[in-house]
Amino acid sequence: MRNIIIISLIFLSVLTCCSTPPRQYHIGVSQCLDDAWREKMNAEMDRELLLHPEMVITRRIAYGSNVLQCSQIDSFITEEVDLLIVSPNEAEEVKPAVARAYRAGIPVIVADRRVSGDEWTAFIGGDNYRVGQMMAEWLISLQGERKEPIQVLEVAGLTGSTPATLRHQGMTDRLAEIGGIKPQIESVIGYWYKESAYDVVSEYLYKHKHIDAIVAQNDLMAIGSAEAVRDATGYAEGSVHIMGVDGIMLGLQAIMEGTIECSATYPSRGDLIIETAARILSGEPFVRDTVLETIMIDARIANPMLVEYQARLHDLETLHIVQLQSEKRWQQINNGKFFYNLSIFLFGLFFLLALFFLLYTQRVIKKEIDSDIIPQLEEVQEAIQVSQKDAAFSERMKQIVNDHLTDPDLNVEFLGSALGLSRTQIFRRVKAITGKGPLEYIREQRLMRADVLLRTTDMTIQQVAMELCFSSPGYFSKCYKEYFGHLPSER
Ligand code: FRU
Repeated sequence: MRNIIIISLIFLSVLTCCSTPPRQYHIGVSQCLDDAWREKMNAEMDRELLLHPEMVITRRIAYGSNVLQCSQIDSFITEEVDLLIVSPNEAEEVKPAVARAYRAGIPVIVADRRVSGDEWTAFIGGDNYRVGQMMAEWLISLQGERKEPIQVLEVAGLTGSTPATLRHQGMTDRLAEIGGIKPQIESVIGYWYKESAYDVVSEYLYKHKHIDAIVAQNDLMAIGSAEAVRDATGYAEGSVHIMGVDGIMLGLQAIMEGTIECSATYPSRGDLIIETAARILSGEPFVRDTVLETIMIDARIANPMLVEYQARLHDLETLHIVQLQSEKRWQQINNGKFFYNLSIFLFGLFFLLALFFLLYTQRVIKKEIDSDIIPQLEEVQEAIQVSQKDAAFSERMKQIVNDHLTDPDLNVEFLGSALGLSRTQIFRRVKAITGKGPLEYIREQRLMRADVLLRTTDMTIQQVAMELCFSSPGYFSKCYKEYFGHLPSER
């Protein structure tokens, strides 16, 4: 039985080993917001993931809430993800959760916005300080030769996020560098959203009479600002110069339509983020801090960029279809694999059952043989031995009788001493072999010898009776008649 269990375990573990799938990595992605720019980043990640079937991602969105983002990161820690990608809402507030993940041994890639401190594995994001400088340069070009400082409204993103502070810093630092008449800047916070930008800009325009330009820290807020200008009294549509950041499709379209004047690219590079994740997970070298370049987009390059953008979107859609198809195919293959494994398993099970049945019946048969047939065989053997002994004894007994038929001493005692048996034993044995008593047997043998002598020699009845030790010829004739049914003289 123990053997069967061991064989079964080996068999089943071999089966399990054969069907063990390759290692899969679970990646947690924590996005602070969901907007067009992040959708682009997500799509780039998804496309790159096609090249890394070993990675599976779970994406969670914090909708601009630090508290929600921290608890989502904590869930990823509990789920023991293999790697975490975080685009933090605000640097200070999200820092503790990121540090917890990092200290739990989870590699952390910080994307786009930074977290305070350095408890993270890699950073990939745009050059926000440079974006700010480009804003300043654009403002300087607007200022041109004007004698009065132009009035500028900065629509900033969420204050605690690094892009908002760095873009502002880059802009003010650059403006500080120039001499002469400088643009006059005032700031409002648009929280990265088009709608909130619309509200704050409308309110500002209502209170302050005149502005020449708006620098919005992203395209969505630039578009929201343009709409606020359009709807404000005293401002003709397009009378305020507006710059955005990001270069997303909506921004490019707004430039083409003249709603906004320009934008600075802010690359999302979801593909590079996934590639870096793959490198980290496989222990390959990677760049710890990647700052992506930015360029200015105006009406001249917005169109080719848009065309390129649309082509890439089309590619992404095609890829998505291909991905769906290959997932379907993969599913079919997996179904096939499942049935293949199932049939191997069932075959194995059947094999084990058959083996079990065989060993079981073997055991039962052995038991039966041990308890029934062997004793019977032993009995038979014993019987054979007994009958062999009997045959030898009867042979010897007959021989002795035959050799001494003419000997008057041939009687039960004689036979007993010749065969080494007592009188009773001789009686029992001779009876068992011949069915007669010893004396009767001896007499019969004598009669048969007498008959032979009478038939083959010239001896008389008297002589034969004497020869074979009968007490008288009359007694001989009597015995002869009893045995053969007629008198010796009547032969
Ligand atoms: C998108 C976004 C972008 C901006 C970036 C800054 O969520 O607001 O528009 O450039 O985040 O982190």
